[in-house]
Amino acid sequence: METIVITGATSGFGVNWLYQLDETKQCRFFILGRDEIKFKSLVSNKPLKNEAHFVHCRLDSLSSIEKAISEIQNKAVKVDILINNAGVWSSDDIAFSKDDIEMTLAVNHLAPFVLTGMLLPLLAKSGNASVVNTASFRHKDANPSTHDIQLKQNYSSENAYCNSKLYSVLFTQKLASLLSNTQISVNCFDPGIVDTEMLRKAFPKSIAFVYPLFRKLVARTPEKGAQTGIYLSKPNLTTGHYYKDCKIREVSKLASSHTLSDWLWEESEKLTGYSYPVSLEVGV
Ligand SMILES: NC(=O)c1ccc[n+]([C@@H]2O[C@H](COP(=O)([O-])OP(=O)(O)OC[C@H]3O[C@@H](n4cnc5c(N)ncnc54)[C@H](OP(=O)(O)O)[C@@H]3O)[C@@H](O)[C@H]2O)c1
Repeated sequence: METIVITGATSGFGVNWLYQLDETKQCRFFILGRDEIKFKSLVSNKPLKNEAHFVHCRLDSLSSIEKAISEIQNKAVKVDILINNAGVWSSDDIAFSKDDIEMTLAVNHLAPFVLTGMLLPLLAKSGNASVVNTASFRHKDANPSTHDIQLKQNYSSENAYCNSKLYSVLFTQKLASLLSNTQISVNCFDPGIVDTEMLRKAFPKSIAFVYPLFRKLVARTPEKGAQTGIYLSKPNLTTGHYYKDCKIREVSKLASSHTLSDWLWEESEKLTGYSYPVSLEVGV
């Protein structure tokens, strides 16, 4: 039986992703979320048929992530699929996580970075594991500053978001290459423009009046938004790719930069104080 760890499954298209996996697999879920009441009301309205453990995890807190990991380690002997779906479009004014790191960077990139690293030993025990990261087409609009990864000097919620999604693509590719001699595949995808609370938050306030029309005419349903993630939630995948609509797509020029990728890895280790195992081939 597969063991699946998923974040961002209590709202948005992550809910559809969770229920679709529940429909099609015999598995055991570890659902990482910050709001247990929300999760309980979700499953009391529509019960899951597979075993599901809610694990309290605030992705804007490294100590909360560590606690969640030890809860999983106590209950699971392996992890077959890790889904890093949770994400945030932060407020217009810069905000900081529990660890005093810019919120978008903390939740959208550093949390998956640490969570994935800490789960590598359990992923290795699967014998055929998949890591799926939710990225975005907005990675193409990123404008990172290598002197100021947190954008403390020039913050905008949009730039913080686009940068964080560029980091998801860079992280996916680098981790896939470090794990190329293992049975763990790592991929990311763009779900498209999806009708969720995040889309409402990201929509420019100056043209908020056209949002209802935009939502109706342009946005995808959450069912459709979840499609590529569901497609990737299986073993035996090629690794290190960016998908959209279940097909491998090109990434931006910045997302192909090894220099940027090495910089990001170093910064991520520095900011989190977490280092990946030295030898990923034998160490996991
Ligand atoms: N919607 C789009 O058009 C679009 C386009 C491209 C990419 N994406 C990406 O798709 C993913 C899902 O987005 P969505 O549109 O479904 O957004 P959403 O409806 O806002 O859902 C976001 C999810 O992330 C969780 N989350 C946020 N901050 C968290 C934290 N600090 N700790 C724990 N969990 C946290 C939320 O938990 P709660 O349920 O507790 O709020 C929720 O489950 C994100 O990575 C997003 O960047 C979305």
